[in-house]
Amino acid sequence: MSVLKGTKVTWLGHATVLVEIADGMNLLIDPFMEHNPSYPKDFTLPARIDYVLLTHGHMDHIADAVPVAQKHGATIVGIYELTSYLTGKGAEKTIGMNLGGTVSLPGVDVTMVEAKHTSSMQEGNQIVYLGIAAGLVLTIQDGPVLYHAGDTSVFSDMKLIRELYAPEFVMLPIGGHFTMGPKEAALAAEYLAPQMILPIHWGTFPPLKGTPEQLAALLPDGNIVARVKPGQAI
Ligand code: NI
Ligand code: MN
Repeated sequence: MSVLKGTKVTWLGHATVLVEIADGMNLLIDPFMEHNPSYPKDFTLPARIDYVLLTHGHMDHIADAVPVAQKHGATIVGIYELTSYLTGKGAEKTIGMNLGGTVSLPGVDVTMVEAKHTSSMQEGNQIVYLGIAAGLVLTIQDGPVLYHAGDTSVFSDMKLIRELYAPEFVMLPIGGHFTMGPKEAALAAEYLAPQMILPIHWGTFPPLKGTPEQLAALLPDGNIVARVKPGQAI
């Protein structure tokens, strides 16, 4: 797809997305693999994973972060409290950041933006809070600007994300229940004005009822909604 300008994006079910940048750098966002019912079991990750990027500390976003980072020698990037927590869980290389900040990686700038959601893990009977939930904007050198919204409701400051970064390709949760559903995602699309939307966080579990078809039906041009199966690259 020309909108991606040579960058390859592969949805791996739920919110897990592999981003392969033309120069060879590979990024994995929110790895939820082993216990992800929609992960394509026959899919093989590239041997090279440079960075694991995390939106927030819920199990369905970080379950495989440490094992994948260890196996591939990747650096984990996330909000400070979350990367600190994962260091305690065995993560060797981390970059902690926070909202509004940008970390320049080779070939891509990663900017942490707002999301409206929580971020916590359960440890025994305790809930451990891990900072707040975030979204990620990836500004790829000579490539597209991508926005992974993480888990979030719609919020009008998505207009700021458009004004500041103008992402062409946005990954929006549409399942509902724990995040926005198609109705809210349609308004998010109006605020963000992307060229393409990859719907994420849908179809994984029964409560996540929103579908790409429902989102497409609510947009002036439903063709901007990517229809891919987990494991199929865009
Ligand atoms: Ni979540
Ligand atoms: Mn989630």
